[in-house]
Amino acid sequence: MKFTTLLSKLSLLVLVLCLSCNSEKKEAPSTKNYVKEIHSFANPNESVIKHLDLNINVDFDSETINGIATYDIENTNAKEIILDTKFLEIDQVTADGATTEFSLGEFNEQLGQPLHIKISNDTKQIAVTYKTTNKTEALQWLNAQQTADKDHPFLFTQGQAILTRTWIPIQDSPQIRITYDATVKVPSELMAVMSAKNPTQKTTDGRYSFKMEQPIPPYLMALAVGDIVYKPISERTGVYAEKTLIDKAHYEFGDMEKMVVAAEQLYGDYDWDQFDVIVLPPSFPFGGMENPRLTFATPTIIAGDRSLTSLIAHELAHSWSGNLVTNATWNDFWLNEGFTVYFEIRIMEALYGKDRANMIALISRQDLDEELEGFENEPEATKLKLDLEGKNPDDGMNSIAYDKGYLFLRTLEETVGRDTFDAFLKSYFETNAFSTVTTEQFVAYLKSNLLEPNAVTFNLDEWIYQPGVPSNQAIITSDKFTNAENTLKTFLESDTIDTSLTTDWTTLEWVHFIRNFPETMTSEAMAKLDKAFDLSHATNSHIAMVWFEQAINHDYHGNGVDETIESFLTTVGRRWYVNTLFKAFKRNDRVADALAIYKKSRQNYHSVTANTIDELLDYKP
Ligand code: BES
Ligand code: ZN
Repeated sequence: MKFTTLLSKLSLLVLVLCLSCNSEKKEAPSTKNYVKEIHSFANPNESVIKHLDLNINVDFDSETINGIATYDIENTNAKEIILDTKFLEIDQVTADGATTEFSLGEFNEQLGQPLHIKISNDTKQIAVTYKTTNKTEALQWLNAQQTADKDHPFLFTQGQAILTRTWIPIQDSPQIRITYDATVKVPSELMAVMSAKNPTQKTTDGRYSFKMEQPIPPYLMALAVGDIVYKPISERTGVYAEKTLIDKAHYEFGDMEKMVVAAEQLYGDYDWDQFDVIVLPPSFPFGGMENPRLTFATPTIIAGDRSLTSLIAHELAHSWSGNLVTNATWNDFWLNEGFTVYFEIRIMEALYGKDRANMIALISRQDLDEELEGFENEPEATKLKLDLEGKNPDDGMNSIAYDKGYLFLRTLEETVGRDTFDAFLKSYFETNAFSTVTTEQFVAYLKSNLLEPNAVTFNLDEWIYQPGVPSNQAIITSDKFTNAENTLKTFLESDTIDTSLTTDWTTLEWVHFIRNFPETMTSEAMAKLDKAFDLSHATNSHIAMVWFEQAINHDYHGNGVDETIESFLTTVGRRWYVNTLFKAFKRNDRVADALAIYKKSRQNYHSVTANTIDELLDYKP
């Protein structure tokens, strides 16, 4: 459904409601019922932000952002409005233009500090003058050396899950939705882009204006500033990157328009008008982040052969699952990620066929087994519906949401049939567009719109509220992977590798082949493979990562692999890669080697990666 259609439906609804309500009720608050939120200090049932006008200055010298965040608010007789902040300096607050009282509450390690702002019944607008500090967790300030072109500094933000409050004072719960305008001043040689309507060219004065007309949750507020250029792929898709990367990126993501078309055919119109991707410097802590209209991506997916672009399908899928229909709390995170993996794999199937889709699905299935094994002593963490009370959501959110979430939805699909399931998902996105859903609401919706009408019984509670994987799980197989397994088996038995068997392998087959090395594999056998394929210098980041992991597992040091591991870890900050490799060091009793690298590489990592590795290696900076 188009956003404008939604608006007209909403106004119709309001009209109908008002016709049936008496005059006292007209005064009733228009705020909805927000569920209890453990990761925000805000009290949106009393007073809530609706629109943000952000006016900021990005200062690379002091590595701070300063400015004014002005909010239109809705208030139901509350005497105060509470915003979330963390490591922000608050200079002044006004209510409808007049200075008002404010106070910062006690600091909580995970959540930061509530900002209490005094308002009156009829306050319509508040404005907060603030500055970020050097403790900010969302921002990563990079020097020229840490970029691709090595000419200019770079800045990017990462909001999910609860980091937006470290660069904007805000009601930082996924249940909140705001539209925003922004004016951002940056050094004139740089360009600024946001999760909003974006420029495609630099301005002469470094001043940029942005508009996000669809209401979004605060974790999707995003900003990147650097010496970047834009190259369109289609009328509504394109890439931003530094100059030396732009053509490579443009080729790599060449199928983006086709992906949007396939996604729309599956689950309805793309509601965000534009779908662009920005390639960030290699320290970006994620593969991708689904900031609306502008996905943020790691350069490690630029492989030269479009083999790692399922990540783009994934972030695109979030335009429905996550950005349009949002998890109400971080305990419901699987509603964002499980649906997105399912949708990602469907997009990949539509573009490239079942073989590729099944390989991605089977890798997810294997990741799930690995994650389940890792949580052997913590079965609670393997439930789809989480309980993150007292935890930083960033520590509590693991790949169970992705991989068990996917398996659950695939099992449902196979149970009810694909056509029925697709119709259900389409209506789910349409019905809940621009709002949030709790796990319980989803369960109710699923029962009354899929299971009951089709007279299907399904062990929903077991899947969602119990640990582990129920026995009625879909079985995923891949001939391509079986073939790769056979090649490995023959190699191990004969000690010779027939390189002609691998010439048509895709990245996924290589990844599977390498991940399947048995524990008993010798470093001599690894040397043989390395000699045949030079895997220690693989240019594909995913192949390199799994090979490095095996080198660490099997005590293999040939062909300069120790040096390439070190240089990989000091340039790439993608948490999944970095964490996998440091975990391998730890598992193999090589913490000292890990620490020697980490002491050099840590300065290149964004806070979310550094926090994870600090904890893993018990490192105190
Ligand atoms: N939204 C996530 C990234 C995220 C999750 C950031 C939780 C902060 C907290 C993004 O869509 C994602 O899942 N990225 C994956 C990509 C993948 C599964 C294809 C990644 O970065 O590896
Ligand atoms: Zn995701």
